[in-house]
Amino acid sequence: IASNKTVDQRLLDLCTLLKTHVSYYDWVGFYFKNGNKNELKLGPYAGAPTDHTIIPFGKGICGQVAVSNQNFVVPDVTAQDNYIACSITVKAEIVIPIFVDGENIGQIDIDSNTKDPFTKADEHFLEFVCQEVAAIL
Ligand code: SME
Repeated sequence: IASNKTVDQRLLDLCTLLKTHVSYYDWVGFYFKNGNKNELKLGPYAGAPTDHTIIPFGKGICGQVAVSNQNFVVPDVTAQDNYIACSITVKAEIVIPIFVDGENIGQIDIDSNTKDPFTKADEHFLEFVCQEVAAIL
């Protein structure tokens, strides 16, 4: 991703790249901690627009990762009680936190229209992506 662009443009390019090249990545976006509030704010994304531009810490898969600081892989969203549905086509989700100086400052969130598509390889790849993202923030 070219560096003569703003951070948001580069993150948007990254979302588009991931969505385009991985067949089961159907929505790819970033959420970031919203200032000093206990909530996430939607950043750049590729895929259908979502109403969930603000997510309180603890709510949904994303809000839980904001609190747990752990990867969250959801093979089947219908099995989750604390889940925020963005689209009825979504069957699975993966959320990986982004750490800057050891602090959880946001996350990459990927929805899939395929059930149980995410492997350990996705987790490791997306951890790498999040480290690269942390380095440009
Ligand atoms: N499903 C997420 C909400 C964000 S949308 O997937 C874009 C959640 O439960 O936190």
